[in-house]
Amino acid sequence: MTASASPETKPHPRRGAAALVLLAAGLVVVSPDVEAAASLEGCGARKTARAGDACEQVLQVWGRWQRSGDDAARDAGIRHARARLEGAWTRAQRGVPACADATATSTDVFARMNSAVGAFVTAMDGSPRGAPLGPRTGRCRARLLRIAGRACRGLVRNEEARLEGNQTRAEAAAARAREKLGAAWTVANASDCLTAIGVDEADAAVERLAATVAGDATSATLRELADAAGVHVGAAVEPSHIATDPLYGPTLAAEFTSLTTENQMNWEPIHPEPDRYEFGPADELVAFAAQHGLRVRAHALLWGRFAVPAYVQNASSATELRALVADHVAAVAGRYAGRVAQWVVVNEPLTFFGDPGDTDGLDPTVFLRLLGPGYIAEALRLAHAADPHARLFVNEFGVEMPGPKQERFYRLARDLLEAGAPLHGVGFQGHLGFFGTPVPTGAELLEAVRRFAALGLEVEITELDQYAFPDDPTALARQHALYHDVLLGCFLSPACGGVTVWGLADPYSWVRVFFRADAIPLPLGDGYARKPAYFGSRAALIQARSARP
Ligand code: G3I
Repeated sequence: MTASASPETKPHPRRGAAALVLLAAGLVVVSPDVEAAASLEGCGARKTARAGDACEQVLQVWGRWQRSGDDAARDAGIRHARARLEGAWTRAQRGVPACADATATSTDVFARMNSAVGAFVTAMDGSPRGAPLGPRTGRCRARLLRIAGRACRGLVRNEEARLEGNQTRAEAAAARAREKLGAAWTVANASDCLTAIGVDEADAAVERLAATVAGDATSATLRELADAAGVHVGAAVEPSHIATDPLYGPTLAAEFTSLTTENQMNWEPIHPEPDRYEFGPADELVAFAAQHGLRVRAHALLWGRFAVPAYVQNASSATELRALVADHVAAVAGRYAGRVAQWVVVNEPLTFFGDPGDTDGLDPTVFLRLLGPGYIAEALRLAHAADPHARLFVNEFGVEMPGPKQERFYRLARDLLEAGAPLHGVGFQGHLGFFGTPVPTGAELLEAVRRFAALGLEVEITELDQYAFPDDPTALARQHALYHDVLLGCFLSPACGGVTVWGLADPYSWVRVFFRADAIPLPLGDGYARKPAYFGSRAALIQARSARP
């Protein structure tokens, strides 16, 4: 179980530390949970500081290698830096078992850091390096890496300051670190470093490295980092698990700022018969969200491919179906008016693979067949009438990458806006790597988000998960990068306000039901273990905080 207390109960670390001082003086009896929380915060701060030191040391080791070309000395230096970090983290978490759970292992964080530094050094060459390029170039590159090391240490050590609420100090120090890197890089690189990396690229690489190291080391939850970045990070959930798994509710409240009703607001579960509604499970989720300060994304009013009850599927005329849709939307969206932030009004309106077929790329559901393409605008208008507060979305998968399906989704969104339909946003579902489809890079995703944002729309990643399995030895490392790149790629656009993962943790993923029971698609694993994808997500949230305009 993730050990960090939920943000509501975690005291501010400064107050926690002060409480410990008073405790030592025997003046104040501090409750054990406050003391534990304070030491958890203190542990996170100590680990982050040591991680920043390690980042600088590793870059210096690689810098010395630039001058010497001595692989053995480089490897010995890396072993020494790893041992120092492991020792420092063991000392930091002594007596605070929760802290060991709250951060990546030093082995993982060091492996990721060293790999990123190696890639950075290789990129400096523009190609894998052979023999040293000559003493002047080696000295120059060693200087660049010393500069990068100082910047990395400064940015990482800032993270705790920022999480302790010293935003101003943190921002100022981070700006100084960036400025020093930029100035020094320009001077050094102008001589004979012969590197293939410019100032901006160097800055981005060091920020990414620092965020990954800080993300691995800080004990902050996704929710705390999302709050600090002013974005939402959510999970799709099922209410039945709250009762059957005592850790389900606390994990949802501790790690996320938003919940999506995975199934319970689809038509069939909530309105199984024309005159019968089953609001219980959806009410439970809306109540949970209100109790824990979570945003609610309601999913989904119309979805023609799944969860359509027979009385709808078998509607005999446009008149009959139009009346059913009007009643359904008024009753369901009306019930939750003012209590949900977003509605997925129409889910997956396009054909599965985006082929045009003979319906101009729209999925030939009962809604399209009987009501025509205008059913989408009609549903948006009905939803807006029922709940003028909710932001209304259309949601689709397979549109994260450039291609015919994204083109069709863009045309649909543009046409709806031109028709004056109350469309406020689009959801890119983000089921990545399924059916052998390629996964988008962060840049490709940002481009897609910006494209729809230019229409004036909000964009969210609404169902993020990855088709991944443990028999692939590279799966976890790739998943760390995927979640980092997707979250950052979205959040770099001000139009992207949230990313939601499709399930609270691997055991609750639909992928284990519909594909393979050993799937590992999400950031939280069995027993809510924080997987590399969790730390990649945290690194992205740390970067988003300073990178978002
Ligand atoms: O609630 C009933 C239960 O009473 C019954 O005993 C049981 C056995 O049949 O079925 C339960 O309903 C299941 C439901 O999930 C709730 O667990 C349905 O059979 C099952 O088909 C349904 O699967 C859901 C699927 O959509 C189809 O509705 C998945 O959990 C859900 O993760 C998945 O989510 C979709 C999004 O809505 C849209 N984007 C794609 C995404 C993945 O397919």
